[in-house]
Formats: sequence, structure tokens, C-alpha cells
Amino acid sequence: MRIAVIGAGSVGRHLATALARAGHDVVVGVRDPDDPRHADLARRATPADAVAGAEVVALAVPAAAVADALAGLTLRPPAVVVDATNAVGAPPPGGFATMGALTRSLVPDDVPVVKAFNTIGAEHLVAPVVDAMPAFLPVAGDRAGVDVVVPIARSLGFDAVDLGGPDAVPLVEDHARMWIHLMRNGWGRGFAFAVVGAPAGDDR
Ligand SMILES: NC(=O)c1ccc[n+]([C@@H]2O[C@H](COP(=O)([O-])OP(=O)(O)OC[C@H]3O[C@@H](n4cnc5c(N)ncnc54)[C@H](OP(=O)(O)O)[C@@H]3O)[C@@H](O)[C@H]2O)c1
Repeated sequence: MRIAVIGAGSVGRHLATALARAGHDVVVGVRDPDDPRHADLARRATPADAVAGAEVVALAVPAAAVADALAGLTLRPPAVVVDATNAVGAPPPGGFATMGALTRSLVPDDVPVVKAFNTIGAEHLVAPVVDAMPAFLPVAGDRAGVDVVVPIARSLGFDAVDLGGPDAVPLVEDHARMWIHLMRNGWGRGFAFAVVGAPAGDDR
């Protein structure tokens, strides 16, 4: 798929690498494509150029930058927005309960918004198999978008789980908080969560 990753920090770079390895056509959107820090990115463009024609737009910017990052983008169907952000150390901006709700408010109604890729250390995006088990990756949001993003996450090697609609987005953000809590309390960054056993009706 044609995928634009907005942000060239830890998440943006690892996600872009993983998606390209999985065979997707990836462009990284950066504010200044001429910035020497981005010289190693094989395919980079301004965020506005990166999203043009993209089927999926992955948002990998700090919570405080989400509104600014989305303001300059023209998003229209059939694009799907994937929100990989977390509010860490401060509530989501604008009084929203979740980053997902903030992102949803800033994207046109007819463009699906999905929460994913936020629940694990960025480096795992290129190494989703830990101790021979694929890491659990919850995905939730607008149905048409979840149906696009779950197969993409599986193409990266994750045990991507369809958590459901927008009501399940807070669960995804809570799951990220649990990973961060453990990471900061002695677990380090090398661990991942995994599902053991087969859920009823398992189609994975
Ligand atoms: N780090 C993790 O392990 C991890 C894991 C899961 C989720 N997350 C979440 O993912 C998001 C990104 O995290 P990160 O660790 O990748 O952050 P980061 O390393 O600080 O990188 C953030 C990137 O966002 C770009 N950016 C900032 N404002 C922007 C704007 N207005 N428009 C376009 N790009 C903008 C920055 O560009 P410049 O370089 O030009 O400043 C930078 O490349 C955060 O919400 C974080 O909570 C992080």
C-alpha cells in the first residue's frame, strides 16, 4: 500500500522501515526535507506532499504537535489515518479524553481514524517477534480503517488484534500506559505482551 508516515522520530523511522520491509510504498513526511538529520531517509517529502495519494497516513508526532501536524494536510477518502501517538506525562491537548478523540476531531468525518502502533517501544516495530512470539498489537477505531490496518500490522509480524470500534480506543491508550509504566519501573524496553492460547473463533 502507499503509506505516508508523518514524523521522523523514533516511531516514524522504525515504522517506515518496517512498512518498507513488508513491501509497502512508504514516504516519510518531515517539516524540512532538506534538514541534514533526514538525509538518510530514502523517501522523504513535506507532510503535505507525502499524504498526496496515500492510502494510509500514520501519525508519529508528539501529542502537543498533533494539531499542527494535521492542520497542513489534505485528507480525503480512501485515505485512512493511523494515530500512533500517546499523551505521556500530560493529558491529551484540548481537553480531549484520549489522543484518539483529539485526532478524530481534526480529521474529516469521512476519513477513518484508527489507533495502533502506540502500545510498544518504537524499536519493536522492526522487531515484533520477542522470544519467538509475535507481540500483541491492539487496533481500534473506525471500522473501515481497522479493516485496513489490522492486515498491515500483521504484515509487519505483529499479532494484531481487532479490539473494535472507537469505544475501544481508550483501551489501546491504556495498554500503552501499562507498557510505559513497566518500562519505567525496571522492565526496560525489551519486553512485549503476547496472547497465549487461542481466542474463541480465532481467525488469526
Ligand atoms: N518512542 C516510543 O517508543 C513510542 C512508542 C509508541 C508511541 N510513541 C508516541 O509516538 C509519537 C512519536 O514519538 P517519537 O518517540 O517518535 O517522538 P520523537 O522521536 O520526538 O519524534 C517526533 C517527530 O515528530 C516530528 N514533528 C514534530 N512536530 C511536527 C509537526 N508539527 N509536523 C510534522 N512533524 C512534526 C519531529 O520532527 P522534527 O525532527 O522536525 O522536530 C520528529 O521527527 C509520540 O506521540 C509518542 O508518545 C512513542
